[in-house]
Amino acid sequence: MSQIETLDVADWSPHPDEQQSRAYAAALEAGKVLYLPRLGFGLQPQERRFLDPRWSDRKAKNISFDPATAHIKGAHGNASDLEELRRLLERFHHSAVGLIEHLLPRYTARLRRARASFRPMPVAGRAGSWRKDDSRLHVDAFPSRPNQGERILRVFANVNPRGEARVWRVGEPFTDMARRFLPGMPRPWFGSAPVLHALRITKTRRSEYDHTMLQLHDRMKADLRYQEQAPQELVPFPPGCVWICFSDQTSHAAMSGQYLFEQTLHLPVEGLYDPASAPLRVLESLTGRTRV
Ligand code: SIN
Ligand code: FE
Repeated sequence: MSQIETLDVADWSPHPDEQQSRAYAAALEAGKVLYLPRLGFGLQPQERRFLDPRWSDRKAKNISFDPATAHIKGAHGNASDLEELRRLLERFHHSAVGLIEHLLPRYTARLRRARASFRPMPVAGRAGSWRKDDSRLHVDAFPSRPNQGERILRVFANVNPRGEARVWRVGEPFTDMARRFLPGMPRPWFGSAPVLHALRITKTRRSEYDHTMLQLHDRMKADLRYQEQAPQELVPFPPGCVWICFSDQTSHAAMSGQYLFEQTLHLPVEGLYDPASAPLRVLESLTGRTRV
């Protein structure tokens, strides 16, 4: 069964009825990708010049907008160009947040807005370390940012000006993947969480949930046979479309493409329409142990 659910939505502020919102939530919370082929993030003619890797400062992979400060990072250019680029990211941020609030109104009260990013670099292939290689199927889990079960919801928009799709592989449902990789997984070293925190390797304490999610991320990426043979579909997201997924749950890999906008949002497990669908609850029910 496909993990892609297509939505006929062409407006950044749509007004689905309650029943439609429930259906969207059911698909998203089952780990599917909501694909909106008719919704594009439009750039003004004078903004198209930002579709060029030269705006990156080359230190960070992405140019990012922090909604807490309204500043951008990772870009280089003169003050007026940077201000225009900042406004572009800010506009994407507001569009993406508004889209989620309209599609899934029940999330609104609990959503925590994180960074928006602009990715001007082509998707890198198998270069670098396997752990950082996002062209291998994985669920998102970040070593320095424990989230204690909080969800990672992401909105993506391909803005490629040359007709190039962002090509993803989308893998099997989270429960199937977890069943495969949980057996034999080591538990965190006793007392490691406060040490990692004290050493500033993690920004907050790494819970057992975070430990498990990192292990799943690594075990998926390290297993080349799994990469080849896991149930998966190749999905080209053409320019002028939007897609949304819980990237801590949806197994995904970015194979090719260039010029992407992405917005990250966080949601506590209790903010979901169905909290039992969260990776935290799935892992707890598969192992019979609480994890935060
Ligand atoms: C990822 O989240 O693994 C990468 C997504 C992308 O850049 O298309
Ligand atoms: Fe990822």
